Amino acid sequence: MGTVRDEKSSYLKSEALPPLANLKEAELSAHKCRRCPLWERATQTVFGAGDSHARVVFVGEQPGDVEDRTGLPFVGPAGRLLDRALNQAQINRDLCYVTNAVKHFKWESLGQRRLHKKPTSREIQACRPWLQAEIELIQPEVVVGLGATAAASIFGVPVRISDVRGKLTHVESVGKTCLITAHPSSVLRAPDPDAQRTEFNRLVKDLTLLRAFAG
Ligand code: URA
Repeated sequence: MGTVRDEKSSYLKSEALPPLANLKEAELSAHKCRRCPLWERATQTVFGAGDSHARVVFVGEQPGDVEDRTGLPFVGPAGRLLDRALNQAQINRDLCYVTNAVKHFKWESLGQRRLHKKPTSREIQACRPWLQAEIELIQPEVVVGLGATAAASIFGVPVRISDVRGKLTHVESVGKTCLITAHPSSVLRAPDPDAQRTEFNRLVKDLTLLRAFAG
């Protein structure tokens, strides 16, 4: 079936991506993505990065300001916190693949700054085939959703993190074992150092469940 333009929203609804032989081909194709309007204001598509044979795939929300400029996922402040949590949980990021539910930076300006803006359900849905393609090509044993946007993309519907957090569970829509935990930015946003420490330790505890796959 061909591609249909939804005139009202300018979202592109196509049934499927073209056949993609490998991750490189998927990445090149994603760089031309026009499935939603987010590409217009982003510097570039930020595709996943890491081991193409990873047993663990991490899914974040969307690239932030630093990721948008560098073209790499989780290399800004949230990425540094994720790295610290992975270190503490004794998970080797080099053995994993790291990506996002939405592959363009969505932002609004505040003076000179570009402030992160949460993607909508339609944007998550529009980008979902790319995540599905990454999972299909890598065939990991575990898919880890970091935060609500990643969880919504994994389950295909919005879910409450507190309902699904911290358990290795088979998710039918992905056909994989999945683990949902907090987004590293939510740890950074905790109101005071005590709360930040508590949230960080909770994140580390969840990530420890991955040791058997990427320790
Ligand atoms: N937040 C995300 O969800 N992904 C990134 O790549 C960076 C920050």
